[in-house]
This record gives sequence, C-alpha cells and structure tokens, in this order.
Amino acid sequence: MSKTNLLKKIKEEIITLKESPLYKLRIENSYFPVIGEGNHDAKLVFVGEAPGGREAATGRPFCGSAGKILTECLKEIGIERKDVYITNILKDRPPKNRDPLPNEIELYASFLDRQIEIIKPSLIAPLGRFSGEYIMRRYGLENKIKPITKMHGNLFRAQVLYGELKIIPLLHPAVAIYNRSKRDILMKGFYELKNNI
Ligand code: URA
Repeated sequence: MSKTNLLKKIKEEIITLKESPLYKLRIENSYFPVIGEGNHDAKLVFVGEAPGGREAATGRPFCGSAGKILTECLKEIGIERKDVYITNILKDRPPKNRDPLPNEIELYASFLDRQIEIIKPSLIAPLGRFSGEYIMRRYGLENKIKPITKMHGNLFRAQVLYGELKIIPLLHPAVAIYNRSKRDILMKGFYELKNNI
C-alpha cells in the first residue's frame, strides 16, 4: 500500500474512534479530528500537543496563532510548511484546550507512532512538554528527559528500523505569542533543526 493510502487508513480509523473520551465532544461541537498534513516523504516531522479551537474547526494542524509562529519560524530557516509533515499526539481537541490526559496520550499515540513509521523522517521535532516527553520515551531516551526549557534545541539520536533518527525537542511555539524574547529563544531551536536536516 502507498504511503498516502496507509495514512488515509489512519485517518479513517480516527474518524470512527468512538472509544476516545474526546469523540463525544467532537460530535457535539461538529469539530473535525486533526490528523496531520504535509509531505508524506518529509525528512522533518513536527509533533504538537493537541488541536486547539481553530484546528478543530478546520481539521488542519497548527492553523491558529501558534501555527502562524511555526510557519514564520520555518520560513526564517528557509523551509516551507509543505515540505515538512505536521501532526499532534492527540488528534481531537481536549475540552477548553486543557492538557492531554495520560489515557488520551496512550490512545492517540499509537496513531502517531504509525504515522512516523510510514513517513520515516530522519528528524522529529516534538513541540512542547507533552510531545517532548512522549517522543523521548518512545525512542528509548527516557533517562535523558528534562524540562522542555532544558531540552529545547538539543540533539538526541535514536536507532530505528530504517536507520538513525534525530530528535530535537522544541518549546511549543505558543510561548512566543505574546513574548518577543521567547521568540528569539524559539528561533535558536529552529536553527538547530536547520543544521540537522
Ligand atoms: N497547538 C498544538 O499543539 N497543536 C496544534 O495543532 C495547534 C496548537
């Protein structure tokens, strides 16, 4: 099966994921699940936390204010959104954008793992604490987990079936929405991506 068809199958499974604690909220609010978008052969995959209001209203990841920052940071390092793949751990919006719960992460992460196995990136940039910790653990780096402010922009390496995988956790772009100095710190992490892609 082609990468596109394998990814489509994941989308279909999530659309009918009635066992999710977030499914009811999706239906009641006419939200879309947010699966991911971008290049199916991307070398670089971004993993956010969960869809927010705009994302759930459109079905597209990072299309609100945090997404605007992500797109701008990418542009500054000479990368276009269409060349990377962007997804989240949770594929449905949590109520009032609250933090993801452990059982929600456990349920949705299996879809994320499959997306990564299909796309086979050489570099993953988890965005924010929850994604940072999940990706580090997933690839056997649990003993290197630190607060996301400490891991931001640091390069970690893991061996996967298709070769070496680099991991560079980053602060969540939302930190820079109202804070210019955080924007500069965020950009430093993006330059590390540029050096490692
Ligand atoms: N924040 C996230 O973590 N993901 C999105 O898709 C949007 C905002």
